[in-house]
Amino acid sequence: MIRLDDITLTFADGDSRVTAVDHVSLTAHPGTVTGITGPSGSGKSSLLAVAATLIRPDSGRVLIDDVDATTLSRAEASDLRRDRVGIVFQQPNLIPSLTAREQLEVMNELGARHSRARRRSAAARADDLLDAVGLGDHRDKRPHQLSGGQRQRVNIARALMNDPSALLVDEPTSALDQRRGAAIIDLIVRLTGELDTSTLLVTHDLVHLPRLHTTVTLVDGALVVDGDDPSDAVAAHPATGACIRSAASA
Ligand SMILES: Nc1ncnc2c1ncn2[C@@H]1O[C@H](COP(=O)(O)OP(=O)(O)OP(=O)(O)O)[C@@H](O)[C@H]1O
Ligand SMILES: [Mg+2]
Repeated sequence: MIRLDDITLTFADGDSRVTAVDHVSLTAHPGTVTGITGPSGSGKSSLLAVAATLIRPDSGRVLIDDVDATTLSRAEASDLRRDRVGIVFQQPNLIPSLTAREQLEVMNELGARHSRARRRSAAARADDLLDAVGLGDHRDKRPHQLSGGQRQRVNIARALMNDPSALLVDEPTSALDQRRGAAIIDLIVRLTGELDTSTLLVTHDLVHLPRLHTTVTLVDGALVVDGDDPSDAVAAHPATGACIRSAASA
């Protein structure tokens, strides 16, 4: 489970500060995907970076299972990420010289003990995950030999190597056409169920929202809550108006 509890995050902006995330609370349960949508600059990536323990918020708590990540030192947060968090960014960031299988296996080398048994189990998990994302026949290919969608599949498989309790995904489909994008979303929903992860997925692509278990909308860093009259936000943010209408009619 991942729970964000009253998160506020500001950034320095000249002499003042800009509020990127404004008192946001959100819980994602195991086996479910929670979509986070909203216009450009509404704080989606900032909120995800806080959930991933990459940025410490000004206030609020990030609970991953029973651990409050905001109380941890940098080193402890890094251990928590290695053990319990999977992160998928828009750009796969694969290492050019490594095969698909090696991209996954290298995750096992990060700060851990390298027993032979551990290596064997990492190799087996890498093979299972590559099968799960439909790349069993491509495990020996390097990134330049894979399509954009295939690279994103390797990226997702790599984020799942540590069997994370929280999977955090930022705009995974923006470099893909709609059909390949939909396949990636379906893959994330399926693996979230199979591996029982708690997944937060940022997307501005409204066609994907009906596939997700829940969707929340951010406007100016704050959640637009069910039952709020969104007309003020709609007036200020036409794109969000479209979001809310589409979510309502889905
Ligand atoms: N490192 C930073 N320093 C200063 N301001 C930042 C920083 N990162 C983000 N911001 C500001 O915080 C706000 C939220 O940005 P964020 O990147 O979270 O939006 P977003 O919803 O992910 O947008 P997009 O859909 O364009 O990716 C924006 O006003 C942005 O300019
Ligand atoms: Mg963003």
